[in-house]
Amino acid sequence: MSSTPTPSVSRVRAAQQIRTFLRAWARDPMGVAAVLPSGRQLSQKMLKPLALLPDSDPAQQRVIELGAGTGAFTRALVDHGVHRANLLVVERDSALHGLLRQRFPELQIIQADACALRTAAQTSGYLADGPADAVISGLGLLSMPRATQRSILSEAFSVLRPGGCFVQFTYGHASPVSRALREELGLHVHRAGLAWRNAPPASVFVYQRAFTAAHTSDTPGTTQ
Ligand SMILES: C[S@@+](CC[C@H](N)C(=O)[O-])C[C@H]1O[C@@H](n2cnc3c(N)ncnc32)[C@H](O)[C@@H]1O
Repeated sequence: MSSTPTPSVSRVRAAQQIRTFLRAWARDPMGVAAVLPSGRQLSQKMLKPLALLPDSDPAQQRVIELGAGTGAFTRALVDHGVHRANLLVVERDSALHGLLRQRFPELQIIQADACALRTAAQTSGYLADGPADAVISGLGLLSMPRATQRSILSEAFSVLRPGGCFVQFTYGHASPVSRALREELGLHVHRAGLAWRNAPPASVFVYQRAFTAAHTSDTPGTTQ
C-alpha cells in the first residue's frame, strides 16, 4: 500500500495545520508573529546558508530548528537531507508541538522555550553528540523585546560550534537584530536572500560570531 497521501488528504492536512497555526496566533499573536506558515520559497532560502558551512554535506550537518510552527522549515530540512539524528526541533506552543510530533514522528521534537535552549538541548541528549553547525530560526525575532532577542541569541551561540551560523528570516529588508545588540554579542551579519513570493515577502539573514568573519567576508552584502 502506498504511503503517499492523495491530493484531497493533503489538502485536509494543510487546512488542519493552518487552523492549528491560527489558533496558536490567537493565543499568542506576538509570539507566533505571523498569520500564515512560511512558504516553500522562504523555506528553501533558509537552507541556502547551510552550503557555506565547512562540511557542506547535509547528512553530516547538525541543525537545531527554533519555532518550528507547523513544520515548513522542518519539512525542507528533512527533504534537504539533514539526518534525523542530527536534527533537533524546538517549539514552545503545545498544540503546535503536538502537530509537529504527529507530522514528523521520526524526529526529535521538543516543547521548549528558545530562551532556555542550552538546557533543553542538553536534557534532550542532542548535545551529547556535539554542538550544532547551524540554528535555523523560524521565531518572530523582530517583534521580540531586545532582552528576549539577547537571551535567544546568547543561548543559540552557546550550542553552536565555532564558525556555526544562526539563520533568521524577517518581514522587511533590515536585520531584525539591531547593530547595538550585534556589537554587544560580537556578531556579524549578512543578508542571504529575499523570498519575494512568500506572503508577506521575507528576507533571510545569517549571523555569525565575529571571529568567523574571515569565512564570510567574501559574501556579497556582508554588513557589520
Ligand atoms: C513566525 S512563527 C513561524 C513558524 C514556522 N517556522 C514557519 O515559518 O511557518 C513563530 C513560531 O515560533 C514559536 N515560538 C515563539 N516564541 C518561541 C520561543 N521563545 N521558543 C520556542 N518557540 C517559540 C511560535 O509558537 C511559532 O510557532
